[in-house]
Amino acid sequence: MILPTPILGSMRFGSWGANLAPAGVAMLLEAALDAGIDTVDLADIYGDHATNPLVGEALALRPDLRRRLRLLAKVGIVKADSPGNARGVEYYDLSVRHLRAALDDSLRDLRTDHVDMLMLHRFDPLLEPAAIADWVREEQTAGRIGAFGVSNFGPHALGLFDGRLAIAAHQVELSLANSAAVTDGTLEASRARGAEVQAWSPLGGGGLLQPPLPLRDALHAIGGDLGLDTPSLLLRWVATIPDTRVVIGSTNADRIRAAANACAAPLPTDAWYALWQAARGFPVP
Ligand SMILES: NC(=O)c1ccc[n+]([C@@H]2O[C@H](COP(=O)([O-])OP(=O)(O)OC[C@H]3O[C@@H](n4cnc5c(N)ncnc54)[C@H](OP(=O)(O)O)[C@@H]3O)[C@@H](O)[C@H]2O)c1
Repeated sequence: MILPTPILGSMRFGSWGANLAPAGVAMLLEAALDAGIDTVDLADIYGDHATNPLVGEALALRPDLRRRLRLLAKVGIVKADSPGNARGVEYYDLSVRHLRAALDDSLRDLRTDHVDMLMLHRFDPLLEPAAIADWVREEQTAGRIGAFGVSNFGPHALGLFDGRLAIAAHQVELSLANSAAVTDGTLEASRARGAEVQAWSPLGGGGLLQPPLPLRDALHAIGGDLGLDTPSLLLRWVATIPDTRVVIGSTNADRIRAAANACAAPLPTDAWYALWQAARGFPVP
């Protein structure tokens, strides 16, 4: 069985991680494309608002990459130190006024005229789904947005868009370090609506690889049986969940290639459950 290709995350490209230069970002994007990964996950806040411009510079250096890539842009968080945030408190703003301005900024920073998916970064209890749906359709007609997605919504919050706007993807934290989405209804609610699940921090932000290695015995035993190293096994556990695409967090070309391979095939069912049981510390009922 061939699984959907993963997505490359950009959160650690800039000052929140590897501090890459534009040429380094271009090199990573090319490595990802060569590994079959054609989508890059972006957000206006990454790198304190400097990562989208960094990616834009990389794409300006290599316009051929822009033509081959699908851009997924997340908006809706206002950081405490975001430009113009007078009160200095972090909050979510999914008002049409904010979303339109954030899309304008993202397109300018990425040096493009459209993004393939626009995603609401966090659930905002003040959101007005009808107004958002009208605005998204307007932007889709104008060609500035492809599909629509949400991120970090609870299973019930997804229903706010039922009958108004199709949710093409739902981005959630999902790994052996945090598998709450598997049990709290989030996966089913997403899949039932035809939204692909995009799993962020599939390695627990790298924490699952830090000593003392959590789950070491289970990872070594099952990885040994299947011929998979620990990062590959952790990523394959996530990729095995149906309708789910892994959002890779690495800024290392070799690791991105290895991650693409790891996500290409599912784990045997018994291995998937054995790892999940080891992570949760108790068996299924
Ligand atoms: N929607 C949301 O709210 C949300 C939230 C967080 C993240 N995201 C998205 O999800 C993406 C992935 O999240 P993440 O970065 O936390 O993913 P992750 O894969 O859980 O963690 C990435 C970290 O693990 C390290 N790593 C990867 N492979 C490794 C290996 N084989 N050995 C040692 N270290 C390794 C990476 O370092 P190297 O770079 O050195 O490989 C990096 O520091 C982000 O880029 C972002 O696009 C979305």
